[in-house]
Amino acid sequence: MSWNPKQYHKFQSERSAPFHDLLKLVEIRPQLKVVDLGCGTGELTRILTDTLPNSDVTGLDSSLQMLDAARAAPHAAPNLRFEQGDLSTLAGSWDLIFSNAAIQWCEDHEKLIPYLFSRLNPGGQLCVQIPSNHNHISHLLIRETAKEAPFNKIVNGFERISPVQSIDQYTKILFEENAKDIIVFEKIYPHILQNSDAVIEWISGTALVPYFERLGEHKSEFLEVLGRKMKKALPESPLLYPFRRILFSAIKP
Ligand SMILES: C[S@@+](CC[C@H](N)C(=O)[O-])C[C@H]1O[C@@H](n2cnc3c(N)ncnc32)[C@H](O)[C@@H]1O
Repeated sequence: MSWNPKQYHKFQSERSAPFHDLLKLVEIRPQLKVVDLGCGTGELTRILTDTLPNSDVTGLDSSLQMLDAARAAPHAAPNLRFEQGDLSTLAGSWDLIFSNAAIQWCEDHEKLIPYLFSRLNPGGQLCVQIPSNHNHISHLLIRETAKEAPFNKIVNGFERISPVQSIDQYTKILFEENAKDIIVFEKIYPHILQNSDAVIEWISGTALVPYFERLGEHKSEFLEVLGRKMKKALPESPLLYPFRRILFSAIKP
């Protein structure tokens, strides 16, 4: 997918709150071999690195655009490197596998989570944060609009169905891996935005990305139709944008 670091950064402070909640779940120990899956532009990976004494941290991301921003920004540290790769085929063995707002882009979490867990060293920790906002009206309206003419033909019937599971399901997956110290919870981050256009601005850096790729020159037409529907559904200003996220942590015996 074609990620846009500038667009993604527009709500950086709102997006960093769940990262700090996830960081609180990390067992701080020295000399860990750490990977941050879907590290994006790297600011948060640097904070993770600074939190873990004498650790060796790899930020892994599939997007060259995001990695270019990570490498250009002043996040350099001798014990931090950024690499291109697909998190779903993560190689190596790790003491901490950390991932903030990335694995929602990978399918089949029933297989992905056990696979990631298998890449942990004994005593290693898996810490994940995933947006679980896929039933918010904005997402429903994206899918509805993409199914309507003329967009259905333009995107060739594409519809993105979120692979994100329920908290019960993540708990079960981790339990079946024999994980220790399982913590799983869902939290609502109540963001106050100017109006429905600001919600579209927000999702333009995330949920709309796979649609933009397919819409090409029809992107602004799509945004116009979506914008009208969103104004009708969410007329308030300022507007409460309640954002659900799942956080979980588990230790490998
Ligand atoms: C929403 S951003 C999160 C970035 C960063 N973790 C943060 O919290 O700001 C999601 C990132 O996941 C990356 N990503 C998506 N699918 C991926 C995959 N299969 N393997 C590695 N990275 C992936 C994207 O390139 C993007 O940089």
